[in-house]
Amino acid sequence: MSQQEAAVLTGAAGTIGVATARRLIAGGARVYGIDIDTRALDAAAAQLGAGFVPVVGDLGSEAGIAACCADLLRTAGPACILVNNVGILTTDKFLQTSLADLRHAMALNFESAYLMTQHLLPGMVAAGRGRIVNVSSFAGRSGGLLAGTAYSLSKAAMIGLTFSLAREFGPKGISTNAVAPAFVRSEMMARNLKTPEDEARLLAAIPLQRLCDPDEVASAIAYLVSAPAGFINGEVFDINGAVQCD
Ligand SMILES: NC(=O)c1ccc[n+]([C@@H]2O[C@H](COP(=O)([O-])OP(=O)(O)OC[C@H]3O[C@@H](n4cnc5c(N)ncnc54)[C@H](O)[C@@H]3O)[C@@H](O)[C@H]2O)c1
Repeated sequence: MSQQEAAVLTGAAGTIGVATARRLIAGGARVYGIDIDTRALDAAAAQLGAGFVPVVGDLGSEAGIAACCADLLRTAGPACILVNNVGILTTDKFLQTSLADLRHAMALNFESAYLMTQHLLPGMVAAGRGRIVNVSSFAGRSGGLLAGTAYSLSKAAMIGLTFSLAREFGPKGISTNAVAPAFVRSEMMARNLKTPEDEARLLAAIPLQRLCDPDEVASAIAYLVSAPAGFINGEVFDINGAVQCD
């Protein structure tokens, strides 16, 4: 990553978003962080300092994404780093998941990445270089332990998008990779682990016997956009404490 490279990060005010912004800024990037939560974005901006530019936007709507990207391209110019991180967890399993539930999860977790990439990739193609990281999940690789069907499907789609982009845009100097984290210590996990017994049961299933630190996801993302990761393209980087080995 070169000095003051523009990086666009979605879901920037959340747990993994803030940790990722911190790592990208430390690597020299100027991070344009998009989130719908204005207060959380303000808090992130106060923590992260001058390298972070908060951008309020609704990534669940096609029009919201178009407006955000038009604004970004006008004010920041083309970005050579895109981290598609925004997502919501669902926990309902297949028979409880309506088509509307599925579409809701797909819109935010997958279509936002699809659309953000459609808007920002032409700038990378013109520059002849770019790095895209899609935040998938262990659920997209496994069907999900705690996670629901809609979430798992949306995260599996992120992996398919990663493979397609890696093949098609590798020849243009753009690499696309995914991270597939599990069990990150976050609000998202806290909402799921309601009792100490829930947490103890989960830890017993994780060979490392602990939850993942958000910075452990952030540093994997920062590595994938760094120069030494230049030959890594179309990789799904597991961060799951050996819950699944392959
Ligand atoms: N936390 C985990 O254990 C875990 C594990 C695997 C993968 N992930 C993935 O990592 C990513 C980040 O997770 P997190 O734990 O930081 O979640 P989080 O809930 O802390 O952050 C998500 C952020 O997205 C924002 N957001 C929600 N809806 C939005 C919308 N319509 N428009 C714009 N922003 C919106 C929220 O305001 C929030 O700041 C997600 O894609 C998640 O699926 C998380």
